[in-house]
Amino acid sequence: MNADLLLRNVQLPTGRRADIAVAGGIVRHVGAAVRAEETIDGTGYTCLPGAVDMHVHMRGGVQAEKEDWRTGTTSAVAGGVTVVIDQPNTVPPITTPELLRARLCEAKEQAVCGFGVNAGVVPEADLAGMWEAGATAFGETFAAPSSYGEGLDEETLRGLLARIHALGGVATIHAEEVGGRAPATLADHDRARPGEGEARAVQKVAGLAPAGLRLHFCHLSTAASVRAARGTVEVTPHHLFLSREMFDPGDTHARMNPPLRDEKTRRELWSCWERIDVVASDHAPHTAREKEAPFETAPSGIPGVETMVPLLVAAVQEGRITLASVIEKTSWNPAAILGIPRAGFEPGDRADYALYPSEVTRIDASLLHAKCGWSPFEGLDAVFPEVVIVGGAQAYVHGDLREIHAAWYPGRGYLSRENK
Ligand code: DOR
Repeated sequence: MNADLLLRNVQLPTGRRADIAVAGGIVRHVGAAVRAEETIDGTGYTCLPGAVDMHVHMRGGVQAEKEDWRTGTTSAVAGGVTVVIDQPNTVPPITTPELLRARLCEAKEQAVCGFGVNAGVVPEADLAGMWEAGATAFGETFAAPSSYGEGLDEETLRGLLARIHALGGVATIHAEEVGGRAPATLADHDRARPGEGEARAVQKVAGLAPAGLRLHFCHLSTAASVRAARGTVEVTPHHLFLSREMFDPGDTHARMNPPLRDEKTRRELWSCWERIDVVASDHAPHTAREKEAPFETAPSGIPGVETMVPLLVAAVQEGRITLASVIEKTSWNPAAILGIPRAGFEPGDRADYALYPSEVTRIDASLLHAKCGWSPFEGLDAVFPEVVIVGGAQAYVHGDLREIHAAWYPGRGYLSRENK
């Protein structure tokens, strides 16, 4: 057998050393070396499956000053993420098959990693049309208002969840309760969108959902919310690694929805690690200039796609979590939830990988690839990949980014239409 690419002498997550032979974007053989067109020496690196970040806002269009598909997916690849799923709260929001197709065209032209685009969930949206046109999943569905998204009332939400259930799609939910005046500090923001309110909103949405709906709760920020959830649970690196006490009270760079909690709540979230299905970044960049606004009016959202896996790999190196749990939560579980072929080490698996060195470094925003140029994770321990393979091709090699053909991952509505 002749392979396109051979990853030589890499360490698999089990600790075993092997050569991985890839052809046509698929794993052909894991074991001893075979002849290949190209070879990468993986000695000294741990090979992880590429991550599927199922919650990113790639911006673009009229918001291209914040981020675009090229810079956002470059940032993803440099952080070991080989598939990103874009949220539909763009300007304008994705509510029709035409808007979805236009968004997919923008992605196809610019993306340097695999991608999917979700359908917006609002009463006037053509959910069935977008599902057939290839939406990967539905939402984030705003059960509370957030940046570029209006909160939906209970009856509207109930009706929309029933429509998603009838289509057989995954409903992804942004659950919060919002009250009070415009917050002036991080603590105010935490009080205005409290953890207890998030847990209540989770319970409320679970109660509105028809039995059998595939429900996925996005970016839960407290242990109580995780325990209250039904379906699958996602958390973010910022709620795991950052608390509001780590920032000056008025620092807008730590403003996002749901808000950062206090240190005690952050630590409690780790106690739910086993129950958490997915870690996703909620990469939602705003420009440095926008974040200079007074806290009351500064936009919510932070970049994070590039630092997600590096933070988790550092936590593995420090003995806090297992490598197996990181692979499940960043790659295998999100792929299974969305119906994306799994990246792994068996013949037939998708050949998306990232090779990580053993040295832990510190996050330095000036070295990251997102357009906004800042990171709330500055100075935290991280392990960045040095080689990233996307669809069997070398996408990122020791800091050098290569052009690759980025695959699209549509949802089951598109796939079943094709099989009709
Ligand atoms: O902080 C956030 N920013 N939370 C969201 O739900 C939306 C996001 C954005 O798009 O900026």
